[in-house]
Order: sequence, then C-alpha cells, then structure tokens
Amino acid sequence: AGIDDVTVTQNSAPARTRVGIGTRTLRTDRWWLQPLLTTLGLAAFVGYATVRSFMRTGYYDAENNYLTPFYSPCLSDSCVPGSAHFGTPFGELPGFIPLAFLSLPFLLGFRLTCYYYRKAYYRSVWFSPPACAVTEPHAKYTGETRLPLIVQNAHRYFFYVAFVIALINTWDAIVAFGGERGIGFGLGNLILVINVVLLWAYTVSCHSCRHVTGGRLKHFSRSPVRYWIWTQVSRLNVRHMQFAWITLGTLALTDLYVWLVSTGTITDLRFIN
Ligand code: FES
Repeated sequence: AGIDDVTVTQNSAPARTRVGIGTRTLRTDRWWLQPLLTTLGLAAFVGYATVRSFMRTGYYDAENNYLTPFYSPCLSDSCVPGSAHFGTPFGELPGFIPLAFLSLPFLLGFRLTCYYYRKAYYRSVWFSPPACAVTEPHAKYTGETRLPLIVQNAHRYFFYVAFVIALINTWDAIVAFGGERGIGFGLGNLILVINVVLLWAYTVSCHSCRHVTGGRLKHFSRSPVRYWIWTQVSRLNVRHMQFAWITLGTLALTDLYVWLVSTGTITDLRFIN
C-alpha cells in the first residue's frame, strides 16, 4: 500500500497516542523475517536446553573428564562419579530437579534480563513492536515499571552470579585436561575452552559489567586502571549481541559433543594422549 492508499489522521493529543492509519504497516519489505528468525533461534535453544537439562544422561565423560556446562556445577549425590568437581553438599535429587539446579535459574535470569535479549524478545515474541513502523497489538505500554518486568532491573545481580558461574565453567575446562587416562588434550578440550572463552566474552561484554567497571566515575584520569578495564569492556560491549547468539550455539554444541562422546556414539579425537 502506498501512502496515498490509506487515510492518515494525526491525533491532536500529544505523546501517548499513535498515528491512525488504516493498515498495520506501510512497509513492503520483509520486515517479519528478522522477528521470525529470532523467535525460531530462541525457541530452538530453549527447547534443546530444557530437554537436555532434565535428561540426566550423557552429561559427563569420565575417561576425559568432560562435563557439559548444562550440568555444572553438579553438587548432589545424584551426579555420576567424577562429575562433581566441587563436591556433593546435596543429597539425592528427585528426577524432576535438574542436576545444575543451583546455576540454571541464575543463567536463565541472566539471559532473560540481558539488555540485548530483552530487545530481541520484546520485538520478536511480544511484538512490542515487531519492527519499526509496524503496529503492535498491545493497547497499553507500561515499560518496565511494574511486575513482572520491573524484575529486569535486577540484571546486575544476575551478572554477579553469572560471573561466578563463568569461573566454575573455567575450572571445568581446566580439569578436563586430566581425565582417567591422565593428562591429555583432545577435540573435547578445544571445544570446552572455546566455549568458556566465548562465555567470558558474553559475560564481560554485559552492559552491567561496563557500568561496574567504569560507571559513577567523575574523572577517568584519576582511575587509570578502571578506565583501562572499562575501555576493554566497552570494546567487547559493541559485540554483545553477536556474543549472545554465538554462545547459544557454542553452549548447545559443547553439550552435544559431550553427550555424543560420553554415550560412546563418537570417539573423542585425541591430539595428545
Ligand atoms: Fe546482556 Fe548483561 S548480559 S546486557
């Protein structure tokens, strides 16, 4: 539809009202493609991660000491021997509780409240709005000022916990160089290390991290160390969206590799020992 095909009425009341046009949008390009791909990508990861988190099989390969990040840290007596890198302070867990019950809620909260993912699912899933110059279906807009969306403001606290979990994942990747067969290096090690490096890139490029490192400083010149750290974080921060997507992929691939190796479906490619 062209601009001449519709009636455009400008409401005289300021700000809160919208331009009344007789069609949903005047855009003729494939504006729906990006929201569609975003929704499919997020749904694929959520579906895979949910199924895997509850499976309780194929999450640890004792021979190579490979533990999937979806089960880390494994802290209960239900964990298979060797997979509890930090001990088992908890007893047996019923089957409906994921073995990584301590980290998964925080990781979910970290991603759900992430500034990038918020943009992604507000647009693609909630259609608020789905694209520029496309009408949204919602009559009201209250922002993030009340429940449940006011919880988005807790993002920095999820960041603190995610930082600790990234340290735990790093430890998992380090101890994986020494499995039952002794010190060695295989494709699984490479995958675990790449995954953890990218997890750090995603975590450290967080907007809250940028504020933690350089926020509230009145004079950068008086805090050269914080200024330097903030500069590096800011460099990563411009790629935060890319890291958000890449880490969804590397997390799933890392888990899949550990799953296949631990169940004997494939053999780990060994470079050393
Ligand atoms: Fe995305 Fe913090 S993790 S903004």
